[in-house]
Amino acid sequence: MEDEKKTLFSGMQATGNLTLGNYFGALKNWVTLSDEYNCFYCVVDEHSITVRQDPAELRRRARALLTLYIAAGLDPEKNCIYYQSHVSAHAELAWILNCYTYMGELQRMTQFKDKSSKHADNINAGLFTYPVLMAADILLFQADVVPVGIDQMQHLELTRDVAQRFNGIYGDVFTIPEAYLGKVGAKIMSLQDPAKKMSKSDENPNASIYLMDDPDTIIRKFKRAVTDSDSEVRYAPEKPGVSNLIDIYRAATGKSIEEVEREFDGKGYGDFKLAVGESVVSVLKPLQDRFAELSKDKTYIDNIIKINAERANYVATKTLRKVQKKVGFPERIR
Ligand code: TRP
Repeated sequence: MEDEKKTLFSGMQATGNLTLGNYFGALKNWVTLSDEYNCFYCVVDEHSITVRQDPAELRRRARALLTLYIAAGLDPEKNCIYYQSHVSAHAELAWILNCYTYMGELQRMTQFKDKSSKHADNINAGLFTYPVLMAADILLFQADVVPVGIDQMQHLELTRDVAQRFNGIYGDVFTIPEAYLGKVGAKIMSLQDPAKKMSKSDENPNASIYLMDDPDTIIRKFKRAVTDSDSEVRYAPEKPGVSNLIDIYRAATGKSIEEVEREFDGKGYGDFKLAVGESVVSVLKPLQDRFAELSKDKTYIDNIIKINAERANYVATKTLRKVQKKVGFPERIR
């Protein structure tokens, strides 16, 4: 019953190499949610150019990300997997919503403050209005739920505020989206500094497991992971490094904290780290194989890109036309 399902929208940027954090924190949940909701999973390439990109590299990464969505288990016939730039309604609605979003609201966004200090030589208007484009993404599809990381909550709140403001003026145009925060334990921290989130933009390659890391690299990075000076495999706030490794092991194996603690009772960190590494290899290896296989099939991927762009365009244009009418743009003559 396609129509009775609620709608879900989410997206990822194709910049940087995706990490295990992106997989356990987002992609894997997306796959779980894909049965329950009518899902739109976007590769948000328009957001990516708020920071300077190499064009060929951006194109390559965008395609790799789209392929990865499928390799991770999202069925492209049930889920609409597409590029943001293939649906011009995103940019058009973003323009309209810009006129319903206050400078003050955007100035408060912590991601804008972070990114403008990181890219002080390129604080462009797109970086400033980034959250408005994100609001347009979500509202175009009348999404009920949006799975996001905690770092995107502020953007989602803004989306809700703008949608409510718009609805307040023009009537019920937009569905007000709810955040869907993933299960606890899915937040993966850096292997080198467990106080920081594992991030694709981390400068230290040993801090992150990239989804395309080969088995030897994965095992090596876990061997080097920061733990602490005792040797107890125990989940505790004062043991953030070990707790993070337990979280990763749990995510990879489905075991509980107690099971993991029991399994490594009396064993040292060496055995534990090796087991964590192997469990991650056993998750990533099939993903990588599937990715390689899919990447070879150009016609198949091209076809998905084409068909899903059409589906997304159809839904998005419906909302856009409604909005255009509400704000007073002239009727189209057919
Ligand atoms: N800004 C999000 C991020 O960096 C990506 C994103 C863009 C997104 N549009 C979205 C996420 C819409 C959810 C819904 O993670």
